[in-house]
Amino acid sequence: MLHFIKNLDLFLDKKLKIQLIFYSVCLFIIPLLETIGISIIPIFISLYLKEGFFYDNSPIYIIDTINNLDVNKFLMLSFLIIMIIFFLKNLIIILIHRFHLLISKSLTSKTTISVVRDFFDKGYLNFKDITIGQKLRDITIETKNSSKSIMNYLSICQDSIFIIFILTLLFTASSSASVFIISILIIISILLFFSYSALMKKLSIALISSRKILFNKVLEISNLMREIKVFKKEDFFIGEFNKELNKLLSRDFKKLFLLSMPKHITEIAAVFLILLIIVNDIFFNKLNFQTVIPQLTLVIIASLKAIPLINALLVKVSLAKSLKISNKVILKYLKRETNISKKIKIKKYTQIETLKLENFSFRYKKKVIFKNQNFSLRRGDFVGIYGPSGEGKSTLLDILIGAIKIDKGSIYLNKKKIDDIDKVNLKISFASQNPKLINASLKENIAFGQELEKIDVKKVKSLVNMVGLNRNVSSKKIGINSNVGDDGNKLSGGQIQRIAIARALYNEPELIIFDEPTSSLDKSNEKIIFDLIKKIFKNKKNMIIVYVSHSFSLIKKANKKYLVKNQKITLVQQR
Ligand SMILES: Nc1ncnc2c1ncn2[C@@H]1O[C@H](COP(=O)(O)OP(=O)(O)OP(=O)(O)O)[C@@H](O)[C@H]1O
Ligand SMILES: [Mg+2]
Repeated sequence: MLHFIKNLDLFLDKKLKIQLIFYSVCLFIIPLLETIGISIIPIFISLYLKEGFFYDNSPIYIIDTINNLDVNKFLMLSFLIIMIIFFLKNLIIILIHRFHLLISKSLTSKTTISVVRDFFDKGYLNFKDITIGQKLRDITIETKNSSKSIMNYLSICQDSIFIIFILTLLFTASSSASVFIISILIIISILLFFSYSALMKKLSIALISSRKILFNKVLEISNLMREIKVFKKEDFFIGEFNKELNKLLSRDFKKLFLLSMPKHITEIAAVFLILLIIVNDIFFNKLNFQTVIPQLTLVIIASLKAIPLINALLVKVSLAKSLKISNKVILKYLKRETNISKKIKIKKYTQIETLKLENFSFRYKKKVIFKNQNFSLRRGDFVGIYGPSGEGKSTLLDILIGAIKIDKGSIYLNKKKIDDIDKVNLKISFASQNPKLINASLKENIAFGQELEKIDVKKVKSLVNMVGLNRNVSSKKIGINSNVGDDGNKLSGGQIQRIAIARALYNEPELIIFDEPTSSLDKSNEKIIFDLIKKIFKNKKNMIIVYVSHSFSLIKKANKKYLVKNQKITLVQQR
């Protein structure tokens, strides 16, 4: 609870805070209305029988009015008043409940967006370190649970207030024996809660991990479907999935079973205690049955309300334990977000004249890729980078586009030192070695990240022609409006690479980077694409092109050639 209050600021913006303060007032209204609801029937019974606490304590003018009314009129009036009170009570509770759900919705939306934003902010390498399963789990389940956790704490407060109201009502209007019932029920509940609270926490942590694994398994199956079919490994993968699914379901089962247990225990205890009071009143205190009816009605109605309430409270308190785990997961994102949002400021666009990496080093954890190397580009360069596989060509490109940061060294943009390429606004575009497509139309993939109605269709069509996609487009009956499938699974490898090239050209960049863009193409197509890139370069002399290839022969025409090998970047030729 303390942890919840301490970090509340991270979850709430100003509007949510106001809504929550307003909602906190409602925390008192519902219990108050419910308590009125509980007492209203015993009040009328007491007035009707002219016996019991409510009759004895009614103001004189009410007693007089009742005495002057005939029985039928009194009953009619009672029914009417009871109906109106219950109608109004439920109407107000419905409205407050609606408000609760609305706050919950805004809270979930705010935390989910924060988590998604954090994926963009946390740096490419850190992002890659998180499994897709975890990303999906956090966005879909944990954010929701985290908001639930906050509302759950408020609900606990509300139920506690309600129980205090019921106890006060029973204490003033009924015997101390009935207070004893509710008190015993509360003690039983607290004991039950403590007896399995540790188990609940352990189960919740295990559940969270199960959810991540299961999401990962689904993704694995969908990515490897072809391989699974070819190697006839369906049974193996279904078996693996089943194992994880059963783990998750049995953990969920244990949790739900544990949560349902207190309900039965408190109910048995409550009925036993009520019977004990009746027996005590009638047989030992020798009270007249009629005298105890109003009081007994009150105790029974209050117990009927209190038992589910105590059960619900118990479930909520146990749930708070489990939801707190989700809350902690989300809190990590929110804490990072407040740190980052202070730092990020998008600078104004800068034209690239020169870009220089000086004496820089980079390694992936323990694997050194570059040590004290230099690399530079200037406007008008056509740079070819070659070298054996796995030596760091793609890594160098990731540094150039600002996706990963160098560990040591300096970066100069137009001779001015900068901290981070990612934080300056440059016109860079990139066609990667294994391009990723969105599950949308061909044109949406080319005009990447642009709203449908803003797409320059003429430009898309001319790019489709330029990269040679038009041949496939007409013969295989796919048009610029055809859907490309999940990550382009309805296209060929070569088509995907051509789309990536068209995408790189769409935004008319100043620095355009190609990472082996022709690796999925045959020799003749490879040459077509390379000639095309040369043509682009010829027409736009003020562009910088960086072209990576395994082979030296393909980049012969580049005016600057670098060899990436043995942690070194060597300038082989410059024209
Ligand atoms: N995220 C990562 N974490 C750890 N190591 C990595 C990571 N990404 C790449 N590496 C390693 O860094 C080395 C350089 O990789 P890189 O992709 O830059 O090579 P490359 O020269 O582009 O190879 P290729 O010609 O096969 O594309 C490789 O040995 C690779 O295993
Ligand atoms: Mg590579």
